[in-house]
Amino acid sequence: MSNDKDFLPINGTDFVEFYVGNAKQAAYYYQTAYGFQPLAYSGLETGDKKKTSYALRQDKITLVFTTPIKQGTDIGRHIDLHGDGVKFVALWVDDARLSFEETTRRGAKPYLEPQVKKDDHGEVVVSGIHTYGETIHLFVERKNYNGFFLPGFREWNPAYKTQEVGLKYVDHMVGNVGWGEMNKWVDFYADVMGFKQIISFDDKDISTEYTALMSKVMSNGNGYIKFPINEPAKGKKKSQIEEYIDFYNGAGVQHVAMATDNIIYTINELRKRGVEFLHVPESYYDTVPERVGEIDEDLGVLKDLHILIDRDDEGYLLQLFTKPVQDRPTVFYEIIQRKGARSFGKGNFKALFEAIELEQENRGTL
Ligand code: FE2
Repeated sequence: MSNDKDFLPINGTDFVEFYVGNAKQAAYYYQTAYGFQPLAYSGLETGDKKKTSYALRQDKITLVFTTPIKQGTDIGRHIDLHGDGVKFVALWVDDARLSFEETTRRGAKPYLEPQVKKDDHGEVVVSGIHTYGETIHLFVERKNYNGFFLPGFREWNPAYKTQEVGLKYVDHMVGNVGWGEMNKWVDFYADVMGFKQIISFDDKDISTEYTALMSKVMSNGNGYIKFPINEPAKGKKKSQIEEYIDFYNGAGVQHVAMATDNIIYTINELRKRGVEFLHVPESYYDTVPERVGEIDEDLGVLKDLHILIDRDDEGYLLQLFTKPVQDRPTVFYEIIQRKGARSFGKGNFKALFEAIELEQENRGTL
């Protein structure tokens, strides 16, 4: 890596905000199924007459669910067009004004000029720029703030609480973009945000009998933020990326990967709570020992929980993907545990895609 000064230093993912049709029920789902803890609320009671938001947290992951409470809002239009989906990928920075200046100077389309939000706990500066589709990157500066989330929110402390499931932080977030658009967005992350490309896959790496995709992984300077960008590639039938683009009506966040230190515990808990995962064929495990070699975990346990395993030069990783978490076949989650590996499970793609195709076939969208 070069010694160029990082013009956009990022401390991590600040929060991920979804626009959803029913924020109250979404919040309950993430509490109940995923073990997120209630954090903050805004709505009529806090003076917001147009929308309601719930923020939930598990370790370093903060998710926000927002819904309109009046007709004719931009949020309502967004939900009609895209269904439930990720609107804001908020990045935690030390200087939200500078982040806005540096990125817009390099060609980012402004979304929100730097804005100061204050309450009794101090002030937060927020700014924002557009990325692919209707997705927005917010820059959140909170060094002069000691409240629990953001000004405008109040503490949300309902009687109902659940046990966490061991989710720790956002490992990476994947964007699906349209035909021939991957390089445009790779260039955007490189030129406008100073990210570097760390990995690339083409349709020879990622293809099955029917579907293919291409992907490049962009990372910020310290590696805390990793954004793989996918585009569909020609296959015999419709790829899962194309299916996503059709139902989301454009580019958007495909999956959020959340890291755990104990994937066996996490997946076991999630399954007990009703989270649905992609079905991994039994035969997948026949070739695991020769492909992956020695691992700490009991292969029988991994097989029972249908957890996937892949190895690279630096170590191995364990991962599993949920089914889409709304009615449209769009956004889903990945649960990942890294044991040295810094890659993204390329060795699993084929098995995984075959599993996804089975789902697509059931939906009649293959
Ligand atoms: Fe992933």
